[in-house]
Amino acid sequence: MPALSAITVDVHLRDDDMRAALEHDVRDGLCRRPKAIPPTWFYDEEGSRLFEEITKLPEYYPTRTERALLEAHAVEIASLAGADTLVELGAGSCEKTRILLDAMKELGTLRRYVPFDVSAEFLEDAAASLASEYDGLHIHAVIGDFLRHLDRIPTTGTRLVAFLGGTIGNLVPTQRARFFQALRATLAPGDHALVGADLVKDPRRIVAAYDDSAGVTAEFNRNVLRVMNRSLDANFVPEHFAHVAQWNEHAQWIEMRLRAIGSQRVHVEALDMTVEFDAGEELLTEISAKFTPEGLAAELDDARFSVENQWGAEDGEFLLTLASRR
Ligand code: SAH
Ligand code: TRP
Repeated sequence: MPALSAITVDVHLRDDDMRAALEHDVRDGLCRRPKAIPPTWFYDEEGSRLFEEITKLPEYYPTRTERALLEAHAVEIASLAGADTLVELGAGSCEKTRILLDAMKELGTLRRYVPFDVSAEFLEDAAASLASEYDGLHIHAVIGDFLRHLDRIPTTGTRLVAFLGGTIGNLVPTQRARFFQALRATLAPGDHALVGADLVKDPRRIVAAYDDSAGVTAEFNRNVLRVMNRSLDANFVPEHFAHVAQWNEHAQWIEMRLRAIGSQRVHVEALDMTVEFDAGEELLTEISAKFTPEGLAAELDDARFSVENQWGAEDGEFLLTLASRR
């Protein structure tokens, strides 16, 4: 008889914590100049679904390229890491995870999978389907914010922490430095981090990936307005905001913004707040930084990780970096 898989779920973000954080971010972000809102709020259930659609678009090369790199190198990665626990930050649908889990299973080291995400419903569904596919795997899901709760990752065993999808690029450099330091602090010597990062390339290819012809990314971007409408009783008219994706050469990142079509007055009932947008005024919703292999290696080294290998640097599309905590 196959061993049953066990699922445990730790919740570090309850609905009321999420709500308080959203209220804070909206109050703070809509008063700034330029206006800005942190990207975490894209990922309600509808946002997570739209992101899944983005990953299948012809223009969105990162997911496809990263999957191919994982397929080619997962066994080598798993054997270098020698881990019994795979932790995955911003796991989402856990779709590419299977490649790493299969490699660890093949090597006979796999015992536990720890998917970590803010998006609770989405994560629970993904965890349930993995449990039915991997006999005997202990799934320990963590609902939390990877900018605040990295110290809640289970501490036993030898860990490989995967941070895929280029999500590292959604943090600005100071946040990244803090993130890598917090990650190091939660790991033990010999534990590993596997970072999937998008590389600097022809800006036209990058812009196309974030401004697809089917308009899915535009809907994903506008979803942040719907999140505010639903959760905070705001009255944004999403159709009155245009999706903007612009390469910032100096910062080496692509910026996603929402540009007001005509002047707008928006009321946020739950915050008792009225916000004015001038015609053409923009709300910054996300950055996605692009890296060089050397640049990312230097950031990891600064946080006292030793880079063991990088895959994908030659073709310049996307990069997997494996580093051990020293
Ligand atoms: N790893 C998947 C999903 C990437 S999308 C892939 O490669 O396709 C980014 C994921 O990170 C989403 O699932 C989102 O819910 C999650 N996320 C975003 N901000 C987060 C935060 N601050 N803490 C934890 N998870 C976060
Ligand atoms: N981590 C993804 C990335 O930076 C997230 C993403 C893809 C995204 N497309 C987007 C975020 C569009 C905001 C808008 O590639």
